[in-house]
Amino acid sequence: MAITYYKRFRMEVDLDRADTTSVLPRPFEWVPWDETLLEHHAEVKYRSFIGEVDAYVFPCLGDRYGCRRLMAEIRRKAGFLPAATWMIAGPEGYVGTVQGVCHRGQIGAIQNVGVIPPYRGLGLGRALIRRALGGFCQAGLHRAYLEVTAGNDAAIRLYREVGFRRAKTLYKAVDE
Ligand SMILES: CC(C)(COP(=O)(O)OP(=O)(O)OC[C@H]1O[C@@H](n2cnc3c(N)ncnc32)[C@H](O)[C@@H]1OP(=O)(O)O)[C@@H](O)C(=O)NCCC(=O)NCCS
Repeated sequence: MAITYYKRFRMEVDLDRADTTSVLPRPFEWVPWDETLLEHHAEVKYRSFIGEVDAYVFPCLGDRYGCRRLMAEIRRKAGFLPAATWMIAGPEGYVGTVQGVCHRGQIGAIQNVGVIPPYRGLGLGRALIRRALGGFCQAGLHRAYLEVTAGNDAAIRLYREVGFRRAKTLYKAVDE
């Protein structure tokens, strides 16, 4: 079995300097976390990640049941932060998702951000990240991080724009 190593970056942001303004364009609306929404987050995650580079790095992201399992795992984490966990709804249903957890009581960690393909390029990804950062600030945190695959140019550009900077390079081994 061949092993592929995917280069990834850990990126961090200083929350005291980050812009957490998160206004949505019409007709989109914020949907705060609610226990009944777990499956909807999972479905939007699946529809956002299928076919994307991260679904190769983390095969569960390209699988509907994998996304449900992952979402349930995120929800069970001790530091799960409802204030940093949001969906965006449009007239035809849910179109974007982000989840945040507090790691070791000290730093916010963005888990997955995804916008389903027909709704990309409208500023929704940026709004989701800013809204999650706002949730971390509300929880009294001063720093946040995430990890991103080096080839995911759209996501890296978005994170840089919001204030994230590269802190570390990592390699993820995947059995192909
Ligand atoms: C990454 C993702 C969430 C961006 O969502 P989006 O709603 O399209 O992003 P936005 O419209 O808010 O764009 C914000 C910024 O991101 C960058 N960006 C977004 N899409 C881009 C693209 N296709 N190419 C280059 N830059 C892009 C730009 O800097 C953009 O700012 P600008 O519009 O002022 O140029 C979306 O592409 C996605 O769901 N991808 C698949 C899942 C994924 O890889 N998630 C990230 C895991 S780490």
